[in-house]
Amino acid sequence: MAKNLLDAVTVPAGYSATVLYRLGDPIATGVSAFANDGTDAPATYAQRAGDHHDGMYFFGVDGAGKWAPKATDRGLLVMNHEAITPAYLHPTGQTLTGSNTTLTRTVADEVLREFYLHGVSVIEVNKGSTWSYKQDSTFNRRVHTLTEMAFAGPVAKTDFLKTKYSADGSMTRGTLNNCANGHTPWGTYVTCEENWAGYFRRITTTDNANRTAKELASFTRYGIGGTGTGAATIASGNGNGRELWATVTPDTPDNLYGRWNTEVLGATAVDDFRNGANTYGWVVEIDPFAPGSMPKKRTALGRFAHEGAELGPVVVGKPLVWYMGDDSRGEYIYKFVSTQNWSADDIGGGMAAGDKYMDSGRLYVARFDAAGTGVWLELKFGINGITAANPAYAFASDADVLVNARLAADAAGATKMDRPEWTAVNPKTGECYVTLTNSNNAFRPLAGTDAANPRSYNTPAGAAAGNPNGHIVRFADAGGDPAATTFKWDIYLFGARSNAPADVNLSQLSADNDFSSPDGLWFSQATPGLLWLETDDSAYTDVTNCMLLAAVPGTVGDGAAKTITNTSGTATRQQATFVGKAPGTDGLRRLLVGPKQCEITGIAESGDGRALFVNIQHPGEETQPVYTDPTSFASHWPDGGTARPRSATVVITRNDGGVVGL
Ligand code: FEO
Ligand code: CA
Ligand code: CA
Repeated sequence: MAKNLLDAVTVPAGYSATVLYRLGDPIATGVSAFANDGTDAPATYAQRAGDHHDGMYFFGVDGAGKWAPKATDRGLLVMNHEAITPAYLHPTGQTLTGSNTTLTRTVADEVLREFYLHGVSVIEVNKGSTWSYKQDSTFNRRVHTLTEMAFAGPVAKTDFLKTKYSADGSMTRGTLNNCANGHTPWGTYVTCEENWAGYFRRITTTDNANRTAKELASFTRYGIGGTGTGAATIASGNGNGRELWATVTPDTPDNLYGRWNTEVLGATAVDDFRNGANTYGWVVEIDPFAPGSMPKKRTALGRFAHEGAELGPVVVGKPLVWYMGDDSRGEYIYKFVSTQNWSADDIGGGMAAGDKYMDSGRLYVARFDAAGTGVWLELKFGINGITAANPAYAFASDADVLVNARLAADAAGATKMDRPEWTAVNPKTGECYVTLTNSNNAFRPLAGTDAANPRSYNTPAGAAAGNPNGHIVRFADAGGDPAATTFKWDIYLFGARSNAPADVNLSQLSADNDFSSPDGLWFSQATPGLLWLETDDSAYTDVTNCMLLAAVPGTVGDGAAKTITNTSGTATRQQATFVGKAPGTDGLRRLLVGPKQCEITGIAESGDGRALFVNIQHPGEETQPVYTDPTSFASHWPDGGTARPRSATVVITRNDGGVVGL
């Protein structure tokens, strides 16, 4: 598919893209069709599709309603709803009064609608003449920011999680900013809490005096709090809290709004939500086959800005492993290795199997060394500098290490990466791939490159920009053992404009397959070796909207060591790295380009690979609409005409019924 700027999902001749599941679509009988003008009743959103569709997995279903991974025409599609485009959710956007620390949401119904629009959907999908979702399926379910959840693993029932809602630290409400995902070999879904930190209100000028030095170090490291000044409109991370949920009054029922205020307000931790921010930042397990089951936050996998959690090779008698990225500039790549060895008897075991494999294990963080090798550093109290004597943060327990995994990874000496997004594991080799979506000149200046984050270069206009197009690193754990503590790595692909200088376009991309800011990344299970790559870009958007590409990668080490010359501004500097074999047009092809101002994210396939499900997130989100003039809407996708844009799932099929991508 050629690059383009159309307000459409475009696929090559011989392929079809069909809209399946849009923001607001009803998932229960009796719920009206979505008006899409901000007037739909807030309570109905508990049974409508959320906004900002993201990570997704297809669980095939057999005739008995059980998990059947190879099922070709019936499944449960489980997907994340990461965030919202507020401009299109209410009659005329979010209603606000005040400014700075008094900036306030004045319409509680608008906020309630937003609570429901985040989280996860479970929908039953069926193949007829086309694919559709079943509005009255008993499997259909929304998990959102009001859904009650339990904590499991080492941090559960510790002081870190005690709140007015849960005096013993065993429970919380909701999941938030669910970005990428994963699954388990027993047939459950995992959703990952990414940019949760900014939703909490914490005005530092008043709250800091009530906090310990350790609490302040933790807040600083995770970006929780600000002065609350300089804002006449909502701005993420200024201390007021993104979306200003904490400002609604009265705060009833059950501190529905005040729970987003993570300041010290009462006498003790069980009188307020001072620990509210500790209740987010986790990997959450959901059993889609048990609609009444309670989701669990699996604390053994650590707390950070979780992008995704991809399952490594599953071998009977061996531990299970999940690879995880922390999506912020300069953050790390992690893996969790279970204590228990895998038994196929646990397939279908639901949340109890999760208790067995995900509540006890070892958490590691990656250090990439200049020799093309790397080390997994264990994050555990008492080793790798993670002690009470650590100068930046005096660790006190294993629970402390998990809550403050970023600080533990700092102490251990992990490698700061260019924003780790999705992880993907090649079923043919067991090798793990990680998108490093991009960085900027402040975080990756010319003098700040390293072997695994080797580029710092100029925009086409000649301005120093760091690594605006991103790259994909891959690694092979030693001996093919995902529990190994060493690995070999190289860089599989570098994003670039095809006409960029050779030391920027290191993968020799052509006009047919060039891309920028890789984000979604997933290996087909039906077609081993086929890799899907999705972009979330703002650096190449003068030329093209975001896209989906298909790739057939080789293996770690199939290229060569290379010393590149970075040019930033007018200065130059050399950096040694390891560049994977250039893909050529046979190894990397663009299959889809999305509508205006969207991100392409989330991907899943039917058991035979003949249906590919792809999420189109936030079309038209960057332009503030003039509500009286629909021509001011930057996108009208998918409904067309004068409609407001909607995030949606599309199904890609081949017109001849063949396997998508082959
Ligand atoms: Fe939500 Fe890291 O993208
Ligand atoms: Ca993402
Ligand atoms: Ca992203």
